[in-house]
Amino acid sequence: MQIVVARNRAELGSWVAGQAAAELCKIIAEHGDASLLVATGSSQFEVLDALCRHDEVPWDQVTGFHLDEYVGLSPDHPASFCRYLRERFVDRVTLKRFHFLRGDGDSTMTASETGERLHSHGQGRPPIDVALVGIGENGHLAFNDPPADFETKEPYLVVRLDAACRRQQVGEGWFSDIAAVPEFAISMSIHQIMQSARIFCSVPDERKAEAVQRSVEGPVTPLVPASILRTHGALTLVVDLAAASMLSRVIIDQAIEL
Ligand code: GLP
Repeated sequence: MQIVVARNRAELGSWVAGQAAAELCKIIAEHGDASLLVATGSSQFEVLDALCRHDEVPWDQVTGFHLDEYVGLSPDHPASFCRYLRERFVDRVTLKRFHFLRGDGDSTMTASETGERLHSHGQGRPPIDVALVGIGENGHLAFNDPPADFETKEPYLVVRLDAACRRQQVGEGWFSDIAAVPEFAISMSIHQIMQSARIFCSVPDERKAEAVQRSVEGPVTPLVPASILRTHGALTLVVDLAAASMLSRVIIDQAIEL
């Protein structure tokens, strides 16, 4: 795992976007196409905004996959991640294709159909070339809240959201109160995220400092789902100074500071 410390959210976003764009260009030059997994949430605001400005990426050769979505929200709901992705990414670049996870259909069916599309996309290569992910305040990875299932090989799961995760969504202003936050979500599984060839995990903000510290320095455990990222061979964790504030000196000394 490589840790990169940015001074602020803007620097974090622009650095991750630059790296992801370069990786996509390299893969397209080699294979003729590339696949990108896209997370949502506040951690991706600056990343996606900067990524859309990378005109050197042949976006029409990029297929996008959606990381997670609430069960029961229509794609026009203000908190819908389909809406988030349309407005912040998909409508801003001309992709070959984007596989949305719709939250308002039969969620089990959506999970299994999107999983099939993902696997048929791979054809001998990892289904995801570049993954953009974040870490929740409770240490979740996508919507895999603790204790996360590290074992299942199903590509997408229907999962129950815990109270900490639902509170975070209210705190970020996506919902008016906790009762309004859906109880279930469709999420890419931990196993499937870990199959991605290259992962950029973007984590800004002081409220994530404890989750970052536990993910980087604590045991690898389903109780801290993002701790598994450390076992990935091509993972870059990008934090801002606030999110890095609880990391020990020895870890910071090994990090790249932008
Ligand atoms: C959110 C989203 C994920 C995101 C993660 C961190 O709730 N469902 O797509 O990667 O959890 O998000 P945030 O940046 O809002 O903390």
